[in-house]
Amino acid sequence: MDSNPALCTAIAHRIAASPKARITFAEYMDMVLYHPEHGYYSSNAVKIGFKDSDFFTSSNLGADFGELLAEQFVQMWDILGQPSYFSLVEMGAGQGLLALHILNYHQQHHPDFFAALEYVIVEKSPALKQEQQQRLQDFPVRWCSLEEIPSNEITGCFFSNELVDALPVHQFVLERGELREIYVTTRGDKGDEGDEGDEGVISLPASANSPFSPLFVELIGEPSTPQLVEYFNIVEIDLTQSAYADGYRSEINLAAVDWLSIVADRLQRGYVLTIDYGYPANRYYNPRRSQGTLQCYYQHRYHDNPYINIGYQDITAHVDFTALEQWGKRCGLDKVGFTQQGVFLMALGLGSRIAALSHQEIPISQLLQRRSALHQLLDPTGLGGFGVLIQSKGLNEKEKSQSLKGLTVGE
Ligand SMILES: C[S@@+](CC[C@H](N)C(=O)[O-])C[C@H]1O[C@@H](n2cnc3c(N)ncnc32)[C@H](O)[C@@H]1O
Repeated sequence: MDSNPALCTAIAHRIAASPKARITFAEYMDMVLYHPEHGYYSSNAVKIGFKDSDFFTSSNLGADFGELLAEQFVQMWDILGQPSYFSLVEMGAGQGLLALHILNYHQQHHPDFFAALEYVIVEKSPALKQEQQQRLQDFPVRWCSLEEIPSNEITGCFFSNELVDALPVHQFVLERGELREIYVTTRGDKGDEGDEGDEGVISLPASANSPFSPLFVELIGEPSTPQLVEYFNIVEIDLTQSAYADGYRSEINLAAVDWLSIVADRLQRGYVLTIDYGYPANRYYNPRRSQGTLQCYYQHRYHDNPYINIGYQDITAHVDFTALEQWGKRCGLDKVGFTQQGVFLMALGLGSRIAALSHQEIPISQLLQRRSALHQLLDPTGLGGFGVLIQSKGLNEKEKSQSLKGLTVGE
């Protein structure tokens, strides 16, 4: 599959109009994924699921993931004293499957909670929003942007599954112990080469320097914002240590910390639950992980070249959970706990669901399929190894002292 020509033209125009004829990798990734008309997530290019798709998430494995999360939300409501309004704000809802599973479960099994529930979806992609609206038409769901929610408005829980890995990241490389940023320009238009010191040096990862990447190339330059260097003070990583070799390359997700600051501001009382693949900073920025975590997904295959299949492939980076914890603290979010998805779901009852399978009278093919789905949710080398971070705000001491069910096994 070639790249989307209209999207490539839009990116080339943006580059031409930018100072020094270059954009940061974060701007490039933002356009590739979220350009309002041609971006991977904005157009109908995004394919989530199993058939003819690029990737699948826990929600594609059946209703169990959503139902177990739903149990956790009910307990959060109980801890807060069963307020008459409780909002669940799902951010980045994909096809709307997770919302469907959660709402169905609450309606059938927890009518009191369902009566108090306001379900809000924050979704950036117009194409996915449309799909969500069709799928959820039987439920009273409200769509809005985070910015439209007033400060201190929400009592309830903000949550996301695989949102943060989809936010655009800055890329950097270390040169003589200094952090330098990766920019993108058009091939043959190498910025103000040589104008300012050593800018304009071309750095191409082997995979990008290929006949399949005819349009864009990378440049190394000074950091576009001091926040990039400050980030490492906050996550307490010292990139000047000798263990970091020249050429060490990785990503910084400033969009994630900006996002979390807005979420914290909108939450008055309750929780933030973030599920995604990633690590604490000391593992993320391990000197041995010298090429970062950026991955591209296209038809269930993954590779590391963001300059091919432009507009037709997903691009993601792992999540630095330390950054979310530390930024959370700065904006009033207390860490409640961090665990792995497999452990979290077991604590919420996934084990009983697996045990109950042997008593179910369903066709053997269905039984095997369901057993495999439940095991995939637990698999520590796959979905079960995802991180689950829960933060809280505005809780009194008694509420804080009550353990969340999902965190009751092995912290
Ligand atoms: C990888 S999908 C995850 C889908 C879904 N949560 C699931 O479990 O299947 C990422 C989702 O986040 C959305 N998204 C990305 N950036 C966003 C933002 N800044 N605000 C809201 N949604 C966003 C994408 O459009 C997409 O729906």
